[in-house]
Parts: sequence; structure tokens; C-alpha cells
Amino acid sequence: MNHPVNTAKLLETFYQLYPGDGRSPEIYFAPGRVNLIGEHTDYNNGYVFPCALTYGTYLLVRRTNRPVLHFATTNFSFRKDIPLDQIGEKVGNEWVNYPLGVINQFVQRGVVLNGMEMLFSGTVPNGAGLSSSASIEMAMAVAINEMYRAGFPMVELALIGQRAENEFVGMNCGIMDQFASGLGKENAALFLNCDTLQYELVPIDLKEYRLVISNTNKRRGLTDSKYNERRSECDRAVEYISRKKKIEHLSQLSYQEFESLQDAIPEPAVRQRARHVISENQRVLEAVLALKSGDLKQFGQLMNESHNSLRDDYEVTGKELDTLVREAGKIEGVLGSRMTGAGFGGCTVSIVHKNMTDTFIRQVGKNYEKATRLKPDFYLPDIGGGAGKLQ
Ligand code: GLA
Repeated sequence: MNHPVNTAKLLETFYQLYPGDGRSPEIYFAPGRVNLIGEHTDYNNGYVFPCALTYGTYLLVRRTNRPVLHFATTNFSFRKDIPLDQIGEKVGNEWVNYPLGVINQFVQRGVVLNGMEMLFSGTVPNGAGLSSSASIEMAMAVAINEMYRAGFPMVELALIGQRAENEFVGMNCGIMDQFASGLGKENAALFLNCDTLQYELVPIDLKEYRLVISNTNKRRGLTDSKYNERRSECDRAVEYISRKKKIEHLSQLSYQEFESLQDAIPEPAVRQRARHVISENQRVLEAVLALKSGDLKQFGQLMNESHNSLRDDYEVTGKELDTLVREAGKIEGVLGSRMTGAGFGGCTVSIVHKNMTDTFIRQVGKNYEKATRLKPDFYLPDIGGGAGKLQ
């Protein structure tokens, strides 16, 4: 795995924070992810198609005999010591709730913990829709699983990460991010059925093209509450449709069935939400086929359609994301572009001809800044492997 981080430097910081007895900590890593297509489908039991990045969260951890959990991070100045008998209490809105939520999930599953000295270090930009939080959860989950020989398979660890976020942090996310972080593979995208959790790794061969991630750098204030609102709109759509045809979730419907049943939904916005979810599922299936047959043009076209649907029907884009996608579309050699993640800010992902990457960054950057007065960031990501122990 190509790790763009100097672990020797991290070890030095660890020993400064926790001089201890000189025993070396174990090092774990869990990646962030970029979703290629299939947005807001996971919690509707539909299809998603994300891949893991080589950016993620490193966790250095050493067990102690003291009944205390020590948390620190290199990303900002933060230290927190939590006695083991207080781990059930949430710590404000701090990031430490992600690992704490995971720890609670293990305790609920009967794992008995000791104290731990921990140093987290993230290389995924925070709050950018690239799953920095899932990578923190999954780094904690693989670490505990290994150190305490809990023996849970990776799919269970992904569920532990998701539950931690749902139950402890209070964000009702689906399973996509934790699953991609845990089960991603280098140079492959993960085609996941979120209903059955069956998945297939599809090799990504972008030929003379590459992925470019563009970060709006918009502060995402209300994301969690708007996200939870979309979830409940989907629940309402299921209830309405069930008056005509009993369903458990929207992904049970084909687009044709939806068209014949949609009049059962009296609220126009809720009808739009359902249309997005059901059409997006169809697009994921088509995109996987397109990638398998090497039809990158078609793949890009489906990405564009996905963005339009998220903008017009699901209404989770906003000026910043729409500007990035529109400007990307003006550059020659761009096959497709769309928002990735929850939306409302965060990042877009585009497929760009390798020779046009510099032009893309220059032009899109300039025009985005002019339109929004925000400075975007651009990343040229590699597709990495899933969570695990480094040393
Ligand atoms: C966030 C959530 C995921 C998924 C996406 C939208 O990343 O954590 O579970 O719902 O939004 O596709």
C-alpha cells in the first residue's frame, strides 16, 4: 500500500505524548472513500459503487494497565482522557465520539477492554464528504478487533462503525462509507448491494483518464440534520407507496413500477426523492456494466445524470457543487463529473483525461473562485486498500 505518511514521525509524536515504558505502539490504518456513483441509495437498501482512497486515518495505539482511554490527534490540538467507567458518555460534538462509539459497540458485544494510549492522524480532509469519520471508526474497529482478538469479520466491523455513528454520534448514515473503508481494494471499486451486503470488486481501468476530486471547501453546517431529513422523506415515500403495493424499501421498485405507483405519493418533494433513489439504483447497475466493458464514455454520462438527479430531485447539491460540476463539463477531456458523499458541500469526483488535468485544475479553480469566492482544493487520488494493521 502506498502510504503518503511518514510513520516514523508519527511514532516520535506518540512517544512525546506517551513516554511510557518504551514499548512500541501498534499502527493501524483505515482509508477514506470516494463514491463513484450510487448516492443516497445505501440507506434505501440499494446499490453503491465507492472505492477506498490512499488517504485515511492512522491510529497508533498501546495498551496499558490503567483503566483510562487516552485520546490525541495530530490534526489539531486536542487531548482527552476518559476513564473506562465513563465511556458511555458523549463528549460534546467532538470527533472523539467516533472512536468512543466504536468502543461502546465492542463492549456491548462482550469485549472487555483495558486502558489504551492512542494517537490518531488523518490525511483525509475533514468534513469534505470523503469519509474522514468512517476512516476514524474503522481504524478504531480494526485495532480493537486485532488487539483484543475479538475475531469479528470485516463486514461486522463495518456494521460496528455504522452503528457507532447511528447510535452514539446521532448521524443516521448508511453502510457505504464503513464498508468501503473496510473492504476496499487497490485499483478496484466496490459494487455493493446494501440490502444483502453482497459485493463484488470491479477492477478500475481508466486507461488514459484519471480521477480528480475537487473540494468546494464550503463549510457544511447543517449536513447531518438535512441528511436525516432526507432519510425520513424516503421513509414517508415507502409508507405512501405501501398503500398501493406493500414494500419495505424504495430499492424494491424498478423505475417502471415507480412510474405506475408514484401518484400514491401526495407530497411532490417526497415523490422527487423517491424518483432519485430508484433512478440512481438503475444508474449504478448500468455504470458497473459500462466499466466492465471499458465504456468510460457511458460511465461518465451516467455520472452526469446522477449529479442532475441529486440536484433536481434529491436537492442535496447547492451552488458550490453545481458550479464545480458545470465548470468541469466545459473542459475538453472530461467524461463525467458529479458530487460525491452526502452533498450540501464537500467534494465532486470527475473523470479527466490525463493530459488535461492541469488545465482542469487551473480553469475549474479560476471559474469556481470567481463564482463563489471560495478557493477549491484538488486531489489526484489513488485507489487504495481497506483497513488493517500496518505494523
Ligand atoms: C454519507 C453517508 C453514507 C451515504 C452517503 C450518501 O456519506 O455516510 O452512508 O448515505 O452520505 O450516498
